Amino acid sequence: MTKKTVLCSKHVATMGGEHPYGMVEDGAIAIEGSQIVWVGRQAEIPGAYAGSQRIDYGSRLITPALIDAHTHVVFGGNRAVEFEMRLNGATYEEIARAGGGILSTVNGTRAASEEDLLREALPRVDALLAEGVSCIEVKSGYGLDAETELRMLRAARRIALERPVRIKTSFLGAHAVPPEYAARSDAYIDEVCIPALRAAHAEGLVDAVDGFCEGIAFDPDQIERVFAVAKELGLPVKLHAEQLSNLGGAKLAASYGALSADHIEYLDAEGVAAMAAAGTVAVLLPGAFYTLHETQMPPVDLLRQQKVPMALATDCNPGSSPLTSLLLTMNMGCTLFRMTPEEALAGVTRVAARALGLDDTGIIAAGMRADLAVWDVTHPAELSYRIGFNPLHERLFGGQK
Ligand code: NIG
Ligand code: FE
Repeated sequence: MTKKTVLCSKHVATMGGEHPYGMVEDGAIAIEGSQIVWVGRQAEIPGAYAGSQRIDYGSRLITPALIDAHTHVVFGGNRAVEFEMRLNGATYEEIARAGGGILSTVNGTRAASEEDLLREALPRVDALLAEGVSCIEVKSGYGLDAETELRMLRAARRIALERPVRIKTSFLGAHAVPPEYAARSDAYIDEVCIPALRAAHAEGLVDAVDGFCEGIAFDPDQIERVFAVAKELGLPVKLHAEQLSNLGGAKLAASYGALSADHIEYLDAEGVAAMAAAGTVAVLLPGAFYTLHETQMPPVDLLRQQKVPMALATDCNPGSSPLTSLLLTMNMGCTLFRMTPEEALAGVTRVAARALGLDDTGIIAAGMRADLAVWDVTHPAELSYRIGFNPLHERLFGGQK
């Protein structure tokens, strides 16, 4: 018989239902194996769980475990020198056009073995887990040749064998044009990116297909060729869109029923409407906004008005967002983008799950995985309010400490 446990706590933010934060006061969560089987008030615990083991977390807050829905945690090397160059006046785009930026990480990643990539990613993953994260999306995109793209995805999948965490992988072959295809970006898409996607899919390494639609990367026609193959393979799509300019990427992504369009600082009303109609999630990445000294805000008010769900993610990568804190990301979402603390928490739980196409996590409800975070705070706004402080008391992954 599977073990039953009842967790009790003064505050349970289920992130589902009608109340703000889906709050249940004096709450209880019954768990059987890796699943939540009942949630409600302690006074109403069903008889079936009366004799079960109880864990009392006192006056603490329980939330769904956090989900980081957009990362590039697998890569080789780092770009501290470019950070310095930018502070001496160079822009992100200038560095990219001069062969640095994403391409400098491509060199570091091509030179790294699968073991190296895994070993270098784990400390970043550990920093996220220490803040109550249970699920991390990881992209390829620093290989830009079939062999290295697949090596990145294999390393990403191995994270879940080394640590108690769920990993969702996105194929991002259309991230940048590698030097050997300079000025031949169409040929890169047809000769490398699409065959690499097919090979990665054949090896079962791909959960979703991503791209970078931007002047320094790929245009909408090129992205569409990759999306057409994703569709043929039955894979969902998502897109880095409208980060530095508006090329209509989010609208294109929405036309493919994308799970999410990410960054979207330069998104216009037409793009917002297309996302709303398609049910595409907006993944906001304040770490990149902050690091690149961006001043154009994503259209948060319009997204809200049009009921486009907003997720928040670290975008952890060596260039535009060397960030491994989802709590700091929540704070930035509130302070830089004027999201409310409730939107920020939904953005790293319920909405983040949706951005990854997951329907078994992100809220606390019967039938969901018992992926939970117990915090030494009494109000959920405290999670977004503090800067650089981690109040995690305990993380449960599939019901296990
Ligand atoms: O999400 N926007 C494109 N890709 C990454 C940046 C990658 C890099 O600079 O290494 C991002 O910001
Ligand atoms: Fe990214």
